[in-house]
Amino acid sequence: MSEERARIGGEFYTREDLKKFDEVTLRGALHERTHHGIEVPIYPTILNWRGKAIENFGIDAKLLFEEWQARGYSEEDDDILWVKRYLEYAEQIRNGVKPEIPEVGEQPEPFTDEELKVVNKLLWGRRSGRSGWSDKYVSDEIIDAICDAGRAAPIGCNLDEVRFIVLRSEEEKKLIWSDVSTENAVIIVIAYDKRPSRIVKQDLPERVPHNRGFDCAAAGDHMGLMAHALGLTSVWLSDSPGHAKEFKEAYGLPEEFEVAMHLAVGYAAAGSIKSGRVPLKYMYYSRDTK
Ligand SMILES: Cc1cc2nc3c(=O)[nH]c(=O)nc-3n(C[C@H](O)[C@H](O)[C@H](O)COP(=O)(O)O)c2cc1C
Repeated sequence: MSEERARIGGEFYTREDLKKFDEVTLRGALHERTHHGIEVPIYPTILNWRGKAIENFGIDAKLLFEEWQARGYSEEDDDILWVKRYLEYAEQIRNGVKPEIPEVGEQPEPFTDEELKVVNKLLWGRRSGRSGWSDKYVSDEIIDAICDAGRAAPIGCNLDEVRFIVLRSEEEKKLIWSDVSTENAVIIVIAYDKRPSRIVKQDLPERVPHNRGFDCAAAGDHMGLMAHALGLTSVWLSDSPGHAKEFKEAYGLPEEFEVAMHLAVGYAAAGSIKSGRVPLKYMYYSRDTK
C-alpha cells in the first residue's frame, strides 16, 4: 500500500480517482475505511502494544479524509468528528506512539433498578397499532426525534446508508402497501442508499449484502421504541420487492435507493393488545450454561 493510494473494497484508488467520488460514496468509503482500517484493529493493537510504529496504519481513511477536506465539506458532523478522532490515534500509531483512548478504561455502568424498570416499560410496553389513528397532528419535532432514534441504531460496517422518506399526504401514502389503515398516520419509508456498500464491495453476494436490510430493520426497531416513549403508536409495514419497486418508480426515488420497510406512526385512535410471546425456553434452540 502506498501513501498515495487508498485501498477500498480491495481496489487501489489514487488521489485523482478519489476526486471523482460523489459525496455519498466518499463519505461511505471514509466511514468503512475508518471502521475496518482503524476502529477494528486499533483495540488489539494498543492492548498488545509492541512499542513500534506501524507503517500505513489507517492510511486509506487519511487519504479519503484529505479529499473530504479539500472539498470543504463539513468537519463538524458527528460522523466526521468520529473519523477525526480515529485519524489522530492512527497517526500516533504510525509515529510509534501508543494512543491513550479514555474509553478503553471504561465499563458500562449497570442501570439502577429504577432505570431498568423504565427500560422494561419501553421494551414490553411498545406494541403495534392497528386500531386506526387519531387526527392529532404529529409534529416535525416528533418525527425528528423518532428518526434520530433510528440514527443511533447499529449499522453494518459503519456505512451509514439508511435514509428516510416521510410521507404525510393521503395521496402519497396510497403508494404504500398496507394491511392496516394509514389514515392520519405518518409513514416513514426506511430505505438505503446503495452507494456506500457498492464502493466498499460489501454488497457482493459473497459478502454482506443483507446488512443493508438489517440496518434499516435496526433503525426501524429503535424508531418504534422512541415513538412509544413519546406517546405515539407505530406499526411496521412489510413490503414485497414488487411493491418496493412500484413505490420507487411512482415516487421517483433515485436509482441508487432501495426501500426496505415502512413504519406507520401516529397517535392511536384506540388501544390495542400487546401480542404475547413464546416462553424464553422455547427460544433457546440450545443453551450452554457453563
Ligand atoms: C419484519 C416485520 C414485518 C412486519 N410487517 C407487518 C405488516 O405488514 N403489517 C402489520 O400489521 N404488522 C407488521 N409487523 C408487526 C408485527 O405483526 C408485530 O410486531 C407482531 O405481531 C408482534 O406484535 P407487537 O409489535 O405488538 O409486539 C411486522 C413486524 C416485523 C418485525
